[in-house]
Amino acid sequence: MLDSLRRLWEVENLSPHGICLLWRPELIWTHIISDTLIALAYFSIPVALATFVSRRRDVAFGWVFWSFAVFITACGATHLMAIWTLYVPDYGLEAMVKIVTAAASIGTAFALWYLLPRALSLPSPTQLRRANEALRARIEERDQALAALKEAQAERDRTEALLRQAQKMEAVGQLTGGVAHDFNNLLNVVLINLDRVERGLSADSRLLAPLRDAMQGAERAASVTHKLLAFARKHPLSPVSTDVNARLASFAGLLRGSIGAKIRLQTDLAPDLPPLVIDPNQFESAVLNLAVNARDAMPEGGTLTLRTCPLPGGEGICVEVSDTGTGMPAEVEARAFEPFFTTKPLGQGTGLGLSQVFGFAQQSGGSAAIVPGPGPGTTVRLSFPVRPPVPARAEATARAGASNPGLTAGPGFAMAAG
Ligand SMILES: Nc1ncnc2c1ncn2[C@@H]1O[C@H](COP(=O)(O)OP(=O)(O)OP(=O)(O)O)[C@@H](O)[C@H]1O
Ligand SMILES: [Mg+2]
Repeated sequence: MLDSLRRLWEVENLSPHGICLLWRPELIWTHIISDTLIALAYFSIPVALATFVSRRRDVAFGWVFWSFAVFITACGATHLMAIWTLYVPDYGLEAMVKIVTAAASIGTAFALWYLLPRALSLPSPTQLRRANEALRARIEERDQALAALKEAQAERDRTEALLRQAQKMEAVGQLTGGVAHDFNNLLNVVLINLDRVERGLSADSRLLAPLRDAMQGAERAASVTHKLLAFARKHPLSPVSTDVNARLASFAGLLRGSIGAKIRLQTDLAPDLPPLVIDPNQFESAVLNLAVNARDAMPEGGTLTLRTCPLPGGEGICVEVSDTGTGMPAEVEARAFEPFFTTKPLGQGTGLGLSQVFGFAQQSGGSAAIVPGPGPGTTVRLSFPVRPPVPARAEATARAGASNPGLTAGPGFAMAAG
């Protein structure tokens, strides 16, 4: 055995392969060039494989690439040996190289056949693309569902905020109404008695001036309680069938005097509106209140618009007062209808204007709200039903309370609708 191995390396009596080719240059060079090219290509392949496997560590069955790299390197070596044995009869060495190549080839072939079913079970690029598309569609579906959920949550938050605001207004309205009612009665007593004292005093009495001051103060206090009663919907109303457009058209002349020359007044009245059953004087007072607010919001001048429109379904009418003034920040808008809420300097605003408007609209079966206008500025919308629902009990008490405002009771506060 050892002797055979030793003899494997003996080169005596052996001829180089070139002799078989009779040293014909065209044969020799064709072999040399082709074997060199094959060997170079074979040696470059493992480099490419090694680079791929070391950079893509996540690739499945990475070790088979290494096995293939060994196999192909061995193949390259056999081609180099073929060139070498053209000149040197090292056939023993060539046989060794072939043994190594055979081992690497068989190992790689076994590995490949062993891996074939597993490799086939790997998802193909097309399958992966489809799976990706399906996943993307599901993500999109989930995103849409999430957006819908967020929208529903936002809607719920808005509704809850409206409900909280309505409950707050209801509570403030009840408290205000109760206090204003009692104060109104007490002020009536004060005023009646001051009147009696005035009539009993002589025209030159020194007490007449302080008495009149006292009467003026009491009258102002009574005016505040009336505004509070209006907010609490306990102001006696005298609803009659009213043509809102005609009323606004004739009232516009008076408004022009109140808002000053710097402000342009324009009307945009929808034709053929049905008449409303409302108190026309209180209606004008509400519009005046809104116009004065608009004037205050446009110190540099601007446009004040009175607009009417039919409500969807022909169930009612909207009356809008818009200005091109400063507009309301969100925190002001949220509290604007509350009694005594004002941003005006002390002595310039009582904060009762909008709460009066709010109470009047509600007492008339409608609502008042600040709505987004066509441009910058503020738009306050009053909505009135064509036929206001008057509960029997409220109607009776309203009639009875006409002589005493404090006794009038209104229906529960509805939410201001935008
Ligand atoms: N058209 C408007 N533009 C901008 N802000 C307004 C407008 N109308 C009302 N406001 C805001 O709402 C607040 C409350 O208005 P409201 O009419 O109730 O009270 P006021 O005008 O301050 O006082 P009062 O009307 O009792 O004299 C105002 O102080 C102001 O900040
Ligand atoms: Mg005001």
